[in-house]
Amino acid sequence: MSKSPHISVLLNPSIDALNIKPNGIYVDGTFGAGGHSEHILKYLKSGHLYAFDQDLNVNPSKDLRFKDHPSFTFIQRNFASMTQSLKHVGVEQVDGILLDLGISSMHIDQAERGFSYMHDGPLDMRMDQSQSLTAETILNTYEHHQLLRIFRDYGDIEKPHIFANVIMKHRPYQTTHDLVKVTDVFFKNKKGHTAKAVFQALRIEVNQELNVLEDVLQQSLSLLKPEGRLVVITFHSLEDRIVKHFMKDHSMIKQLKGLPVLSNDLPPFKLITKKPIVPSLDEISMNPRSASAKLRVSEKQTNHSII
Ligand SMILES: C[S@@+](CC[C@H](N)C(=O)[O-])C[C@H]1O[C@@H](n2cnc3c(N)ncnc32)[C@H](O)[C@@H]1O
Repeated sequence: MSKSPHISVLLNPSIDALNIKPNGIYVDGTFGAGGHSEHILKYLKSGHLYAFDQDLNVNPSKDLRFKDHPSFTFIQRNFASMTQSLKHVGVEQVDGILLDLGISSMHIDQAERGFSYMHDGPLDMRMDQSQSLTAETILNTYEHHQLLRIFRDYGDIEKPHIFANVIMKHRPYQTTHDLVKVTDVFFKNKKGHTAKAVFQALRIEVNQELNVLEDVLQQSLSLLKPEGRLVVITFHSLEDRIVKHFMKDHSMIKQLKGLPVLSNDLPPFKLITKKPIVPSLDEISMNPRSASAKLRVSEKQTNHSII
C-alpha cells in the first residue's frame, strides 16, 4: 500500500502567527513529520526550538533537517508535561507555542496502528505506544455507561445508548474490521453516519486528547512570555470548542461595571484571531486532510504578570 507523506496544514499562516523572533525560544508541541518545526528553525539565529511528540516512532535524530541542529531539542513526551519537561532543560518561559493537534498521515496510513477504519489492523490507536490503554481494551471491557459517555460525548453518535449495547453484544473485538462490520450494520440507512465518528471517539478516549489539550492550554498562561504567541490548529469541533473558549475566556476584561480598569483586571491574553483561519480551497484540493482545520491565535499581554 502506498503511504502518503504528511503535508503540514496551514503552514504559512501558523508560522506567521508565531511572529518568530530570531533569538526567541519556541515550542512545537506536536512535531509529527517536522514540517512546522523545520520552518520555525529557518527563522531562528540564537533562538531555540523545543519539539515534543509522544509517538515512540518519531525520531528526528535520524532526520538530516534536525540531526545535530544546534537550535533544536526533541523531547519524546506528551505535551501535557510541557512546563515540567522544559524546566528540566532550564527553560521557564517561551516566546511561542504551536500545537497542530491530532494524528499525522503516517498514523492513518499504518494499518498496524489501528487509527483508520479504511485499513484492517489491531485495535490499538495509541499515540504513545508505552501506555497500556488501547481501543481493544475499551471495546472489550468498558461498561455500558463508559461506552455511552465516549460515543455520546466524543463521537456525537446518534442513539449512543443503543450503539453501546450493540458494541457489547458483539464482543470480543480484535481488529479494526471487526468493529467496522458492526458499525456498517448499525449505521446502514443513517445518512452521514460512518465508522469515522466511532473511530474518532475511541481515539480521543485512548489518548485522553481533550484532557491533555485543556492541560497544556492552562500551562500556556504561565509558560508564555509577554507578547508570546499561542497558535493552535484543531481538526474537529470538540477540540476547536475548547481552544475557542479558552482563548476567549482569557482575553475578556473582568472589570466590574462602572469601576475603573485596574491592571489586575486585565486578561492574560489578547485575541489575535477573532474568527479562525481556515485552509484555502487550493490547500484543501492539494491536501484533503486539511479540510476541517481551524487555526486560532492568542498573544500574552505585556502588562499581565505570571499567574
Ligand atoms: C498533526 S501531527 C503534526 C504534524 C506536524 N506539525 C508536521 O508538520 O509534520 C500531530 C503529531 O503530534 C503528536 N501528538 C498528538 N498529541 C500529542 C500530545 N498530547 N503530546 C505529544 N505529541 C502529541 C502525534 O503523535 C503526531 O505525531
